[in-house]
Order: sequence, then C-alpha cells, then structure tokens
Amino acid sequence: MELQVQVVDHPLVRHSMAQLRNRHTPPELFRTLTRRVTTLLVIEATRSLRTRRQPVETPLETVQAQLLDEHLVVVPILRAGLGMLDAVVELFPDISVSIGYLGLERDEETAEASIYYSKLPPIEGKTVLLVDPMLATGGSVCHALSGIFPQHPQRVILACIVTAPEGVATVNQRFPQAEIFCAALDRELNSRNYILPGLGDFGDRLYGTI
Ligand code: PRP
Ligand code: URA
Repeated sequence: MELQVQVVDHPLVRHSMAQLRNRHTPPELFRTLTRRVTTLLVIEATRSLRTRRQPVETPLETVQAQLLDEHLVVVPILRAGLGMLDAVVELFPDISVSIGYLGLERDEETAEASIYYSKLPPIEGKTVLLVDPMLATGGSVCHALSGIFPQHPQRVILACIVTAPEGVATVNQRFPQAEIFCAALDRELNSRNYILPGLGDFGDRLYGTI
C-alpha cells in the first residue's frame, strides 16, 4: 500500500535537516534547528485551516479580510516533542490555541511505548496538532492517537521531523484519518528500532543527555 505522508521538501528544510543529522551538532544549535524545521513544517501542515471573512479598515478603505477560524489544540509528546512546541505556538498568535501534554516513553529493549503523563484540554470538534519529532515504529503516536480519537476531534494533523516507512504504514493502517506531515521520510528501522539514516536519539540530542 502506498504510504500516506506529505514530505515538506523545502530547500531550507533540507539544509536544516543536514545540520540536525550531523552527529557533531551541539544541543544549543540542535534546539534552534528543531524550531526552524518545525516552523517550516507546521506552515505547510496547517495550510488547509479554515478562515472566515471579516471587514477590516485600512487607512484608505474597507477590505474583506480573512481571519483564522479554527481553534487549534497542540499536543507535544514528551519529552522530545517539547522542542517543537514554542515554534508552533508562536505561529498562531491571533487565534486561541490550547496545549495538551502527553508523556510517552519507549522501553529501550522492546521499543514499546508506555504513558506516564496525560493532560489534555477538551478536544471535541477541535483540530488537534500532534507533534513528535520521531515516528519510528509508530508505537508512541498510535498510543497517543488511541486516546485522542475517542474524544471526537474534527481533525488530527501529525507533524514529525523524521519518519520511518514502518511507522507511517502503522499509523496509516490504524488511523487512516490522521494526516501526517514530515521533514524527511527515511529508509528503514534498525534492529533496535532506531531510524536509518535518522539522527539518533532526538530527546538526548535536544537536551544533551547522551
Ligand atoms: C522517541 C521519540 C518518539 C518515539 C518514537 O521518544 O521522541 O516519541 O521515540 O518511537 P516509536 O515511533 O517507535 O514509538 P522516547 O521514547 O525516546 O522518549 P523521549 O522523547 O523522552 O526521549
Ligand atoms: N526515537 C528517536 O529519538 N530516534 C529514533 O531513531 C527512533 C526513536
């Protein structure tokens, strides 16, 4: 089955991805690049948000302007997703944005995700933007989505920085309604379920905990 994922292939994304992947990039620059890629990714991922018309007076005349007409619930998956949060929130100053948090951690041996924290605002009828930089086996994202979809959001958009074909296929199969956007679709997972070529452990590189 063809993978349903949109790769945001902007030259600035490609350039930043080269730096993010580089093993010598230090945490401070890694955090800056994470914000930069997230901005470019989320602009594309939210291209189809609804707008409504509203008259606005310029100094010269009245114009039928358009304002964003959706309430966005941003949900970063802790801990690495936190590195993407500020860039998302800063893009949406004029509509109400609320933030929910999900803490998920993969077992180092089995790669199975378990939840250790959950605080979500009401999401019924809302557009949920789930952010997690790495989609590897898809276990963490599927865990998150299995808590989100029963609450009847209008849409769920997933923004990841690096994805693996295995994880995309799993999410496509289990949650075909989830719209996936990423900066890179990599080759495969290794035997420890790390993405190849990937960039290593995102959370460790973001927070200098290697
Ligand atoms: C990483 C990453 C994803 C998950 C992806 O988190 O941020 O949440 O792994 O892997 P999966 O698709 O196989 O579930 P990790 O569990 O290492 O936790 P961290 O963010 O706290 O470092
Ligand atoms: N989580 C990461 O941080 N990196 C991977 O390659 C896979 C999961």
